Amino acid sequence: PRLSLWGGRFASGPSDALAALSLSTHFDWRLATHDIAGSVAHARVLHAAGLLTDDERDGMVDALGRLRDDVVSGAFTPVPADEDVHTALERGLIERAGVDLGGKLRAGRSRNDQIATLIRVYLREQARAVSALLLDVVDALVAQAHAVGEAPMPGRTHLQHAQPVLLAHHLLAHAWPMLRDVERWVDWDARAARSPYGSGALAGSSLGLDPAAVAAELGFDGPTENSIDGTASRDVVAEFAFVAAMTGVDLSRLAEDVILWATKEFGFVRLDDAFSTGSSIMPQKKNPDVAELARGKAGRLVGDLTGLLTTLKGLPLAYNRDLQEDKEPVFDQVDTLTVLLPAFAGMVATMRFDVGRMAELAPQGFSLATDIAEWLVREGVPFRVAHEVAGACVRECEERGTELWDLSDDDLAQISPHLTPQVRTVLTVEGSLASRSAYGGTAPVRVREQLERARARAGEL
Ligand code: ARG
Repeated sequence: PRLSLWGGRFASGPSDALAALSLSTHFDWRLATHDIAGSVAHARVLHAAGLLTDDERDGMVDALGRLRDDVVSGAFTPVPADEDVHTALERGLIERAGVDLGGKLRAGRSRNDQIATLIRVYLREQARAVSALLLDVVDALVAQAHAVGEAPMPGRTHLQHAQPVLLAHHLLAHAWPMLRDVERWVDWDARAARSPYGSGALAGSSLGLDPAAVAAELGFDGPTENSIDGTASRDVVAEFAFVAAMTGVDLSRLAEDVILWATKEFGFVRLDDAFSTGSSIMPQKKNPDVAELARGKAGRLVGDLTGLLTTLKGLPLAYNRDLQEDKEPVFDQVDTLTVLLPAFAGMVATMRFDVGRMAELAPQGFSLATDIAEWLVREGVPFRVAHEVAGACVRECEERGTELWDLSDDDLAQISPHLTPQVRTVLTVEGSLASRSAYGGTAPVRVREQLERARARAGEL
């Protein structure tokens, strides 16, 4: 017979179909050691409230310690009759402490406040682990940015040549959003650091138990302010899911660049053999599978967030069993990022850039036209006129099939009397880059400073 947590009121146990539907140990078992840590803390507050003798508390803590060892070693595992991680662990405790002592632990708590607490403990731990892996990607980007020095590349908007930029500037433009993702988890942690333990089913405990003591023992800043909120809200879980999804999207945007850069047409980057795959039929193939999987898994991470938000929408207060569905999406996100990030960091760290090709393409597509316009502005020409003049230079060159710097002194003068031969000083990639020297710009001197700031920020996080 099932060892039910609610036998008294029921003449029969659950049907097999309900039991199968209800079952969650195949995913919530990963919270087992966290649940035991909560139980130890709970045993202490039961003792502090005079509900356990010294001996009983010691016996309970000892039995929970043995249970933890057996969970870790795999000697104790859930059986099909255990509905969830809490049910299984109660059985394990009673097997070790006896039914009289083991049966005392449940006083003053509910699986509702237990699970709301455990998911926070688990996600806080995982946020730190995943952040560390994400910082490895940032480190790889910063190292590449350092290694490529002042190498230029074509900067694009709308995927069209726009203005030359430093390759390092572009690489760091991928690092900053990832640093913000890590910051998001740090900020999130402050909100997640409140313990719902002691909220009971929804209304709080009548037994004189101290939620602050449990909170402190489990590493929280304090207990939640409202027992209904503590057990019914999952915004903290959803916010974690958002940061995980955002991280996936940020990785995916870099992945898409890498996929394009690795094509024959771009030819900007070569991926290391250890981070590329071949084809079973085409012997010449070298495929950017790490980047493609990152792009693909970003969709899955977004789906996890969407599923969770959809579960929460429309749920009345307080606890509803729907909330059991909060766990698989974030567990999937944790597992996905944990397997993705090391491969992604490895891919980034081992990419080799064809800086010669990037430099050659940097000024093409008339990407220095803005420099002509801005040179004219510095000469006192209104920008509206300057824009027209630079545009006329582009039109002329496009018709002739030449580049801006091929225009002769006469050609320039013909287009506009403002265009003296001096304009040529900005018609080089180096001149263009050096001129974008405002804070945050792509001038080499600014990018060097930026690189140091990115490195320092990654070190602080
Ligand atoms: N397994 C449930 C969950 O993950 C916790 C149990 C609460 N169940 C209940 N019937 N009150 O949310």
